[in-house]
Amino acid sequence: MNIAIAADHGGYELKEALCRHYADLPLTDLGTYNCEPVDYPDMAQKMARAIATKTVDLGILICGTGVGISIAANRYKGIRAALIYSQEVARLAKEHNNANILVFGGRTMKADDVIKYIDTFLQASYEGGRHQRRLDKLEAME
Ligand code: RB5
Repeated sequence: MNIAIAADHGGYELKEALCRHYADLPLTDLGTYNCEPVDYPDMAQKMARAIATKTVDLGILICGTGVGISIAANRYKGIRAALIYSQEVARLAKEHNNANILVFGGRTMKADDVIKYIDTFLQASYEGGRHQRRLDKLEAME
């Protein structure tokens, strides 16, 4: 699975911590590459395009709260970006929503917690069935 990560300046430090922790994974860093202000819609667009072209299977997006970059990412066709704030939500975001972007808040979450959420998501499986009907309805709205 190809995983990519991107953040605005509010998520830069958390992104760097996650890149260090997951150094052994094939994790593509789409930026930003320093603390200078950048606009979260631009980072969300970069990730959405990488997923649309299938160069990336799973994205991790981070802004200050996770809210702005979630809103931005979910405007793109085919994107199911989930703001994750517990291990239960991480598991359900895979089992029920088959999320293709995990979103975190760099100023509101601790790296140790976020790592637990990502690991939980990666261990879960999409259940399909009644959930696929709902995902089909989401796709029909696009
Ligand atoms: C940037 O200051 C901040 O507004 C952004 O990272 C994010 O929290 C927006 O939702």
